[in-house]
Amino acid sequence: MRLNNKVAVITGGAQGLGKEMALRFVEEGAKVIAVDMKELDFSDEQIEGYVLNVADSDACKTFYDAMIKKYGQIDILVNNAGVTRDAMTRKMTDEQWNLVIDVNLKGVFNLTRHIGPQMETIGGGSIINISSVVGEYGNIGQANYAATKAGVIGLAKTWAKEFARKGVPVRVNAIAPGYIMTDILKTVPEDLLKQFASMTMLKRLGEPKEIANAALFLASDESSYITGHVLSVNGGMRL
Ligand SMILES: NC(=O)c1ccc[n+]([C@@H]2O[C@H](COP(=O)([O-])OP(=O)(O)OC[C@H]3O[C@@H](n4cnc5c(N)ncnc54)[C@H](O)[C@@H]3O)[C@@H](O)[C@H]2O)c1
Repeated sequence: MRLNNKVAVITGGAQGLGKEMALRFVEEGAKVIAVDMKELDFSDEQIEGYVLNVADSDACKTFYDAMIKKYGQIDILVNNAGVTRDAMTRKMTDEQWNLVIDVNLKGVFNLTRHIGPQMETIGGGSIINISSVVGEYGNIGQANYAATKAGVIGLAKTWAKEFARKGVPVRVNAIAPGYIMTDILKTVPEDLLKQFASMTMLKRLGEPKEIANAALFLASDESSYITGHVLSVNGGMRL
């Protein structure tokens, strides 16, 4: 039980990678608060669902205060909530740009600004920002998304320094998944998905549990000497 007695907050926890992480963390003994804009449906009493828009700064503070009151501390934060609004740069609207920045980048800041310093005061913690292969290499038609996914790598590296500057082991890392079969790929044409699979060394797309296992490793003490790192989980892909 690698996460016994740990309290974990996972954003975007209603489905896809976030849901898979919530279920995996509970198997390892964690209490999980899964946060999402959408209603959350978990039967496991170790998972509490909380409806929250991570782009709403005030609502994030209210959520943080309520969780500290209820659980006393937060040991693990996975900044996983994310959206895409793809368009070629010359056609990208302000709405498309702003939404993706607000959710994928500001949403990460909104919770970490409270939970990171709190980890310093409780003596440690693990924060994981979910980036993307697109944040590492860029991608046509995803300027907004690539900017945010590169941005959360910069945030992870900055917070790894900032929250540990007094010698407290708050570790902050990023995971950069390749293409993993979830709803976020629903709008990607089948032939493009096949092409992405063929671009990996393993010649296939990834499965949500493969990201959940990477997150479990970074959340647990097994990665106690890893911080400020970007873990690529992409089957050996270069975009
Ligand atoms: N699936 C992939 O291939 C892939 C690859 C690289 C990175 N990622 C990243 O992994 C993360 C999870 O993606 P997924 O594949 O599970 O997608 P998904 O669309 O299945 O899940 C994303 C979840 O985030 C929630 N969400 C969206 N906006 C929100 C907001 N403002 N506040 C709170 N919750 C919000 C959604 O309701 C949804 O439940 C995202 O950050 C995504 O960019 C996914």
